[in-house]
Amino acid sequence: MAQLDLFSLGGRVALVSGGGGAIGSALAEGLAAAGARVAVSGRTSETCDAAVERVRSAGSEGLALQGDMTVEADADRVVAQTLERFGRLDIVVNAVGGGAGQVLHPAEGYPRSDWDWIMELNVRSTVVPTQAAVQSMIAAGHGGAVLNLSSVRSILGINAGYSAYVAAKGAISSLTRQWATEWARYGIRVNAIMPTFVDTPQVASLLADADFKAGVVSRIPLGRVGETKDLVGPAIFLCSAAASFVTGQILGVDGGLTATQ
Ligand SMILES: NC(=O)c1ccc[n+]([C@@H]2O[C@H](COP(=O)([O-])OP(=O)(O)OC[C@H]3O[C@@H](n4cnc5c(N)ncnc54)[C@H](OP(=O)(O)O)[C@@H]3O)[C@@H](O)[C@H]2O)c1
Repeated sequence: MAQLDLFSLGGRVALVSGGGGAIGSALAEGLAAAGARVAVSGRTSETCDAAVERVRSAGSEGLALQGDMTVEADADRVVAQTLERFGRLDIVVNAVGGGAGQVLHPAEGYPRSDWDWIMELNVRSTVVPTQAAVQSMIAAGHGGAVLNLSSVRSILGINAGYSAYVAAKGAISSLTRQWATEWARYGIRVNAIMPTFVDTPQVASLLADADFKAGVVSRIPLGRVGETKDLVGPAIFLCSAAASFVTGQILGVDGGLTATQ
């Protein structure tokens, strides 16, 4: 095998949960460009359809699947429909999550309703589709790859009312290590990427504050916030045979932020 072929996802099938989102749609397109056929799931059909258009533009086949990824029946159906259409499922990317900037509260009074919402949006939405996908991978016996979206907030505090989000992303990083440990016996690798701020609608209101953004950028050695395209190469790597001995890792994609803290 030529060395660059290690990065090819040709013949593989990926499910990008939350693939209609800013990061999810960039990753769906990137995995497609690397050769994967890609199913995209989310609650809003229109954004999933738009992501599938990006998959097709990248030269691959896509499938838009509407569903709430915190609901077991929806996740099971999405996996079944992916298998029905493409015949296999090798990769699941968990790109549902976020919400931090919408619910900023002092830690000492963080309201339970917002806490539960952030946990549901980030943790439950990662657990439910992963369980459905991994059950199918174990049954098929061909191994696979799981890629989670953690955040530098899984290891760094921030003085901005983020209690629930840091707890949720800490859980995602912990689950990445736990799942990698449990599912290695099935040839299923589990990794995560850990971005700092990525220029997306989720964080637009925070980054619109010039002082806040200047503070963020000043702490990032590469001198800028991330862009969705910065996440594509790391995602392809971690989902490909190039990372065949890499599992349980949380890869910082953060311009060097965590190296300096
Ligand atoms: N943006 C950043 O700066 C940044 C930094 C570090 C980590 N991250 C992480 O990266 C991930 C993606 O972030 P993003 O900026 O791309 O967010 P986004 O644009 O809001 O994308 C999230 C997607 O998830 C979907 N979704 C939400 N709840 C869902 C549910 N219950 N079932 C199915 N789909 C659901 C949303 O679509 P519907 O509402 O239509 O379902 C949306 O398409 C998150 O985990 C986030 O924490 C982001």
